[in-house]
Amino acid sequence: MTYTVILAPDQAVFTTNNNEPILIAAKRHGFNLPNSCQNGICGQCKAEVLNGNVKQGPHAEMALSKEEQKKGKILMCCSTAESNIELKVPGYNGRNTPPVKTFPARISNIHRIHDVVIITLALPKAPPFAFWPGQYIDVLLKDSNSRSYSIASSPSRTDVMELHVRYREGGLFSELLFSEKAVLKEKSILRIRGPLGTFTLKNTKKPIILLATGTGFAPIASILRSMIINGDKRSVHFYWGARTETDLYQLQTAADLISQLPQARFTPVLSRPQNNWKGAIGYVQDLAAKDYPDLHAYEVYACGSAAMITDAKKLLEEKCKLPSEAFFSDVFLPAS
Ligand code: FES
Repeated sequence: MTYTVILAPDQAVFTTNNNEPILIAAKRHGFNLPNSCQNGICGQCKAEVLNGNVKQGPHAEMALSKEEQKKGKILMCCSTAESNIELKVPGYNGRNTPPVKTFPARISNIHRIHDVVIITLALPKAPPFAFWPGQYIDVLLKDSNSRSYSIASSPSRTDVMELHVRYREGGLFSELLFSEKAVLKEKSILRIRGPLGTFTLKNTKKPIILLATGTGFAPIASILRSMIINGDKRSVHFYWGARTETDLYQLQTAADLISQLPQARFTPVLSRPQNNWKGAIGYVQDLAAKDYPDLHAYEVYACGSAAMITDAKKLLEEKCKLPSEAFFSDVFLPAS
């Protein structure tokens, strides 16, 4: 059965197929609705049903409170339409969203730092690639496979795009870069689809806390670069966490970016420090909660492991008075 989904406030319309999750149907029609884990964990895809019937899938309890469920909130990634419906989706910015395109990009540089590769792609000149800082792209691979990577460069650089790829044993894309017989080299051509995602800096004046683990630094780097270019003066505190110092693969880059903002602080955090680490020890969310017991007027942007994001959301909302609508996240899940 096909149903129509209307999005408030601009009355944009798309259709869902039989038992198709609403979020998947929206993507199929080129809508960039807020989402991250696509698995009922993060709550980024919450929407309010204004009209019609929706069947919420089994995962709702983790990311939707009973109160929210009573108020007609759903998770679009794991719910299906049972009639024509109208939804109000927080963060949906109508047709202003940068268009999603598929295009070729040439690898112009590959730089390996321990188990992370920094790839620079040369982008086609026309039309220029537009994205919001914090968004990601899919690298399209053989047999309809793809892998998602956040963009680390600034939206002002329409000629190049920087991606951070961590090595995963057997990883469909990372093996092409890291293995003995790495087939991807400078001048190789990749097929890219994007920009995707809605993890992006909101246009407010609120002070912000940025949390990242591992290569979750990539979208944060894009956000910081964009803030520098835009002369953004809001207060920022960036916590970047990893196990060991070598996992903070661009420590100096992060420090340099922070130093270019007028009211910014940087706290690198290690959970398993070695040698003579003199910095913070523990987990980014615990450090932030300790430093900021009252976050009611802040926004928090978190990017990295599902464990960090789930824990940070719960801790900062419950202990530090962070409003749930002021927590934005991008979960990095290992590809199955
Ligand atoms: Fe739906 Fe995370 S809960 S995208």
